[in-house]
Amino acid sequence: MKDPSEQLSTKRVLVSLIKSIDAYNSLLKDHHRRVTAFAYQLGAEYGLPYKRLSKLVIAASIHDIGAIYVAERDELTQIDVVNPEPHEINGARILSGIPTFEDIRAVIRHHHVRYEDTQRGRVNPSDVPEACWFLHLADRIDIYTHHFTDSPDPKEALRQEIRSRFGKDFLPELKGAFERATESAQFWYNAEELSFQELLLSAVDTEMRERGPTDLESVALLFGRIVDSKSHWTLTHSQSVGAVAERIAQFMGFPEKTRIKLRIAGYLHDIGKIAVPSEILEKPGPLDGDELRKMQEHALISALILSGSDELAEIGRWAGSHHERRDRTGYPLKCGLDQFESEIDILAYADVFTALLEARPYREPLPAEEAMTILKSMCPAKLSQDVFNVISDHFFELQPILNDENEWDPASAMYL
Ligand SMILES: [Fe+2]
Ligand SMILES: [Fe+2]
Ligand SMILES: [Fe+2]
Repeated sequence: MKDPSEQLSTKRVLVSLIKSIDAYNSLLKDHHRRVTAFAYQLGAEYGLPYKRLSKLVIAASIHDIGAIYVAERDELTQIDVVNPEPHEINGARILSGIPTFEDIRAVIRHHHVRYEDTQRGRVNPSDVPEACWFLHLADRIDIYTHHFTDSPDPKEALRQEIRSRFGKDFLPELKGAFERATESAQFWYNAEELSFQELLLSAVDTEMRERGPTDLESVALLFGRIVDSKSHWTLTHSQSVGAVAERIAQFMGFPEKTRIKLRIAGYLHDIGKIAVPSEILEKPGPLDGDELRKMQEHALISALILSGSDELAEIGRWAGSHHERRDRTGYPLKCGLDQFESEIDILAYADVFTALLEARPYREPLPAEEAMTILKSMCPAKLSQDVFNVISDHFFELQPILNDENEWDPASAMYL
């Protein structure tokens, strides 16, 4: 994908998805946006050249993608974070193998490292990229803001607290930039007013020029992983749905362009789950009424998030309909036969196929025969007979795809 217009649209999609992840984040809403604004200003004040500043901006904009549980959010919002590693490792894992984010991955992996730990041999300083120091400081500025609201002069109290931590938590060389930047009212004003969109577009542009073009598929895969990591039962779900949907489309003779779009739709179909608390996604038993309503909202939110970029209009329509059924028993819109495109049948069947063959908190993966019985019972009333026939004819070619996708070993920490 070296076509400049495709690159432009990939950039726009990337920026739009980063913004959505922040806006819908059920754990730390708006945190990524504010930390990005703080990090950018600190980096600029220090005099970082633009290329290095761009890396910092991108890392800041997604730095907590590895935080999953409410308990983690509670810990991350404390003055002293006792155990930040799980969300750093998880964030780095999500970014692994995606070329454009290779450098960013190392920043996410160590974004809470304390300066003291690099001095006392607990962390090797050469493992900690420069951007980590700016990001850690920016992150704490945002968190501390909430801790000093009752003080007579909250900004000064915050500055005092942070000042006392240079040489312990923070890199001493950043003290001057911190003092200069934070004494101006503009610094705090900009945290709300700087355009997240513009900062990101320009940083992504610089990064792509530096590291080479990125394709839409890699971007979609990244966001699919962010969602999948919200529950350890679904660590490769979206990745598998994308691969299965593409393969079904191939068996059905669809052109390559459509097949790739279906793969992307598979990666992104559950992106709305970013707004569903992990406790609901992980609940081992049946969901109560309210939980079920929240869970089902994810399809609508997927459609909403993907409608944020023109480039994804068609993909978003399919993705947002993956729980619709031809007999209007699905959700969110209960749309009927007249609105069914065959891509929706393929994606919906790929989703059910994958889910049945994956483990869930309440059951093991189903045996092939049992899965086939359930898939068969869905057609022709709920989903297309033609798609079912393809799955039935090629079941044993489709099934191994799930294991292939699992080869991206989510539990492995060897690349960290
Ligand atoms: Fe963090
Ligand atoms: Fe953070
Ligand atoms: Fe779903």
